[in-house]
Amino acid sequence: MGLPRFVWQDAYSTGIPEVDMQHRMLFQEVNRLADVLDAGSAISLRDLNGSLAFLRYYAEWHFGREEQLFEERADNPKHPLLCANRRAHAFFIRLATKWYRRYLDLRRQNASSVEIRKFALDLYYELVDWIENHVLQVDRRAAALCKTCPLHGA
Ligand SMILES: [Fe+2]
Repeated sequence: MGLPRFVWQDAYSTGIPEVDMQHRMLFQEVNRLADVLDAGSAISLRDLNGSLAFLRYYAEWHFGREEQLFEERADNPKHPLLCANRRAHAFFIRLATKWYRRYLDLRRQNASSVEIRKFALDLYYELVDWIENHVLQVDRRAAALCKTCPLHGA
């Protein structure tokens, strides 16, 4: 049995198409990583370049946009949940930097295929954890604050 994949559902929507599109990209990236791991063949660092590039995009671009779009739409842009969302993003940005450093270390050390597979699997589970505990929890609750705003409600 292979690693779990994520299938987008309407229930995951934040109601903001741009945020949803970026969350779907995250799902695709996690699924692509699962495909690489499930293929069973040796994984090269080159196979993971896309994942690292995605992490950088996600940390540098997505979070800022999501924060802006939520805060523009919420009744109270300083709501504790939106502050918690920002803090979680700052945490993940530091995490992404650590992943990048680990990736560069593997490159420098001419890592074995066992080490590269372990790195890919750890990264997969990190992203799964982020989807399950942030995207599908914090983001959805934060988005609900926007949906109740009379100016932007569905
Ligand atoms: Fe978020």
